[in-house]
Amino acid sequence: MTNIQIELKDVQKYYKVGKEKLHVLKNINLEIQSGEFLMIMGKSGSGKTTLLNILGFLDKLDEGKFIFESQDVSNLSENKRSELRAHKIGYVFQQFNLIETLNVWQNIEVPLLYSGHKNKNERKKLIESRLYDVGLLEKANSFPNHLSGGQKQRVAIARALVNNPSIIFADEPTGALDSETGEDIMNLLSKLNKSGTTIIMVTHDHDMTKYASKVVTLKDGVFNKGGL
Ligand SMILES: Nc1ncnc2c1ncn2[C@@H]1O[C@H](COP(=O)(O)OP(=O)(O)OP(=O)(O)O)[C@@H](O)[C@H]1O
Ligand SMILES: [Mg+2]
Repeated sequence: MTNIQIELKDVQKYYKVGKEKLHVLKNINLEIQSGEFLMIMGKSGSGKTTLLNILGFLDKLDEGKFIFESQDVSNLSENKRSELRAHKIGYVFQQFNLIETLNVWQNIEVPLLYSGHKNKNERKKLIESRLYDVGLLEKANSFPNHLSGGQKQRVAIARALVNNPSIIFADEPTGALDSETGEDIMNLLSKLNKSGTTIIMVTHDHDMTKYASKVVTLKDGVFNKGGL
């Protein structure tokens, strides 16, 4: 039996640049199964981040249909979109995007505050268990500028996971790391995927495809034939 978590149908995305209208995603059709580890590949400028941002409710599509967990979310209000972002989705970025003025613990706490976890003890339990998962309990009080790149990315992954999302979106999560540290991060994402979290990741790096259950390639905003 199939278990489709996300579906895009004939999706188009344009950017306005001055008077020009740039057609960035062209007729995108995509089905993502629950529990999949999907990799989106393609050259710089091919539309990978744009597609990921649409899938992750960070940006809106212009035409077409977007079904998320059986709900048509193509034209959802901003409130509903931010609710989904807060409860269903975790994000991991190339440059980690940690808040430099907050320590590791506080960075991981941010999504819990957004999603309305009012009980401090409950927050403590969730944060500790995620720090344990990424192997960084002893760094709870450190600030991001005292961490290595790999450690920063592990904090970002703990932060992405703390609300127990059903999907993690990762845009070049190993792009700023050396290859060995990148492998550590991929092993961590792989472990999460095996425990049931859907992962959708953008990468330039062909070596990463060994972790994927499915690979799609964008070229100038179009899926390459055979990529689906
Ligand atoms: N906010 C924006 N306004 C106008 N054009 C944009 C905007 N964001 C992206 N673009 C353009 O859309 C196209 C796709 O960009 P996108 O960031 O999705 O590419 P990408 O595949 O993620 O590239 P990279 O591998 O370099 O990150 C590019 O031509 C880019 O210049
Ligand atoms: Mg990009």
